[in-house]
Amino acid sequence: MEKLLSNTFQTLAKNSAANKMAQRYGLKFGAKRFVAGDSIEQAVACVQQINQNGMVAMLNYLGEYVFTEEAAQEATQNCIKTLDAIHQTGINSNLSVKISSLGLDISRELCIQNLKQILDSARKYGNFVRIEMEDYAHCQLTLDIYKELRQDYDNIGAVIQAYLYRTEDDITDLNNYQANLRLVKGAYKESPDVAFPKKSDVDKNYEKIIQTHLLNGNYAGIATHDDVMIEKVIEFTETHQIPKSQFEFQMLYGIRSDLQKQLATRGYKVRVYVPYGVDWFGYFMRRLAERPENVAFVLKNTFK
Ligand code: FDA
Repeated sequence: MEKLLSNTFQTLAKNSAANKMAQRYGLKFGAKRFVAGDSIEQAVACVQQINQNGMVAMLNYLGEYVFTEEAAQEATQNCIKTLDAIHQTGINSNLSVKISSLGLDISRELCIQNLKQILDSARKYGNFVRIEMEDYAHCQLTLDIYKELRQDYDNIGAVIQAYLYRTEDDITDLNNYQANLRLVKGAYKESPDVAFPKKSDVDKNYEKIIQTHLLNGNYAGIATHDDVMIEKVIEFTETHQIPKSQFEFQMLYGIRSDLQKQLATRGYKVRVYVPYGVDWFGYFMRRLAERPENVAFVLKNTFK
C-alpha cells in the first residue's frame, strides 16, 4: 500500500495538468507545511525566522520542466530577483535552482545562458548558487553543464544522488573540480537499471560517498533528515578530524525542525531549504512520496 501511494505521488508530481491547476488555486492540501509561500516577501520572512534560530537558508524559486523560452526567462528573472532580495534584506541565504526551469529541455545553450546570468548576479553579491539534481534523464547533462561552468565560476555547486549506481564514479570525477556538493539519497522514481531499488543499499552508498567526498577534502552539504546517518557522519568527522567548516547539514523547511535546531545548538552549520512560489505541486507530491504517512496530514487539511 505504501509503495502504491508513493508511486501515485511520484506520477502526480510530473502531471502537467495537475501542476497547472495547482498554480491557479494557491497553496492547498497542507502544502504550507513545506512551502514558505507564494511571494518573495513571505520567503524572506521565513528565512529571517530561520536566521534568528541560528541557521542559514537556501531559497528556491519553485519551478521545473519548463518548455517555452518565455517561461525559462521568467524563471531566470525570478532567481535574479531572489538574489536581489537576499542582498537588500541582508538575510543569510544562498540560492538553489532546478535547471530544467531555466530551459534545459529546450536547449542546452539557452539553459547555460540563463544560468550564467544568475551566477553573474550571485557573484556580484558574493553569493552562491547550487544547481539541483533532477531525474536520471537530466543527470549527465546537468553534470556536464556544472563542469563547464565550474571552469569560470567559484560560486557554483551541484548535487549528487546516492541511489544511482554511477554516483561513486561521479564523486571521483568531481574531485578533479574540487566540487562543493550537496549529497542526497535521491527523490525521483528511477528504474532498477540505473538506481538501487533497496533502501538499505542506498543508505550504504550514501554513507560511502559522504566519507569519500569529505576525505577528498571537499565541501559537503549533507542533505538528509536521517538522524542515524547524521550521527554516523558526526562520529566520522570527529575520528578523521574533519573540521566543522568543511561541511554543513541541510534539511527541508517543515521537516524535522526539532533536529535542525538541535544540530545548530551543538555548533553545526545547518542550512534550511526554503522553497517558494506558485509552482509548488511537484515539490509537494515528492515530499508525500518520500513519506506516505504524511497523507493523513493532507487529508486533514483537505477537509478542514
Ligand atoms: P530517509 O528517507 O531515510 O528519511 C529519514 C527520516 O527523515 C524519516 O524517517 C523521517 O523522519 C524524515 N523524513 C524524510 N522525508 C520526509 C518527509 N517528506 N516528510 C516527513 N518526514 C520525512 N533529492 C534529489 O533527488 N535532488 C535534489 O537536488 C535534492 N535536494 C535536496 C535538498 C535538501 C536540503 C534535502 C534535505 C533533500 C534533498 N533531496 C533532493 C531529497 C532527498 O533526495 C531525499 O529524497 C529526502 O531527503 C528524503 O530522504 P532522507 O535523506 O531524509 O532519508
